[in-house]
Amino acid sequence: MADKIAFITGGNRGLGFQTALLLKDPGTKVVIGSRDRSQGEEAVKKLREAGVDADVLQFDITKPGDAQTAYDYFNSKYGKLDILINNAGIAAGTFPGTGPEHSAAEAPAELLHKVFETNFFAQVALTNTLLPLIRESPAGRIVNLSSILGSLTLHADPKSPIYHAKSFIYDASKTALNAYTVHLAYELRDTPIKVNSAHPGWVKTDMGGPQATMELSEGGKTSAALATLPADGPSGGYFHLGQPLPW
Ligand SMILES: NC(=O)c1ccc[n+]([C@@H]2O[C@H](COP(=O)([O-])OP(=O)(O)OC[C@H]3O[C@@H](n4cnc5c(N)ncnc54)[C@H](OP(=O)(O)O)[C@@H]3O)[C@@H](O)[C@H]2O)c1
Repeated sequence: MADKIAFITGGNRGLGFQTALLLKDPGTKVVIGSRDRSQGEEAVKKLREAGVDADVLQFDITKPGDAQTAYDYFNSKYGKLDILINNAGIAAGTFPGTGPEHSAAEAPAELLHKVFETNFFAQVALTNTLLPLIRESPAGRIVNLSSILGSLTLHADPKSPIYHAKSFIYDASKTALNAYTVHLAYELRDTPIKVNSAHPGWVKTDMGGPQATMELSEGGKTSAALATLPADGPSGGYFHLGQPLPW
């Protein structure tokens, strides 16, 4: 049996799939969450061909009951969870541009709720549901997929490269997720569990788009590194490729 059990939400494509490839290790079982079972099975086939010990769990982070289903799956099969990568996320058309969906002043309430449901509320609910299993791990690691767009310090600095990259709804959902990272890491400070926020880079995925500056092959590195931090690694931080980002 594998020593370490990892769960990556939204692992059927994009950064989640890429991160699963990087967790390849004979001692690590990588379970990818996929909303669509057949897409998940296809991804697992590719991961196994690449040498990853992979399985799929049909999982929608916004579906009532799916967090409990995930708990029951890991509890009954392994009795613990070592790595949780909260990767599933949506932009839902809120990236920088013109129109109310990009605006703070005109943010459509329904879109605000939808993006926060996936990128924040459901992430907290899943993590809190799985936390008793992560506490059973000798070295639990929680990675929250944030974004540099969640940095209030950089958004407030006219000299920062993202100053004009304002997409209020998406950005605020990642800022909220960063708050969860800081607060949860504080609460877990006397345990072996490490909780960190990751900015993967601007990566060529369906979400990042073809104009993104980073290749997909590079995009999983930050998540994989934070998922496999040594015992003396950081907790409660916000990182891109090993470099801290300002909150
Ligand atoms: N790409 C970038 O440049 C970039 C930069 C910074 C941060 N990020 C963050 O990195 C994470 C992954 O992004 P990506 O670029 O790989 O995005 P992506 O290519 O759009 O893939 C998103 C993944 O999340 C899954 N997902 C969406 N809603 C879900 C739900 N309700 N339940 C379960 N899974 C769900 C998708 O599943 P389906 O296939 O079923 O839709 C897919 O597997 C996101 O949190 C994103 O905000 C990305």
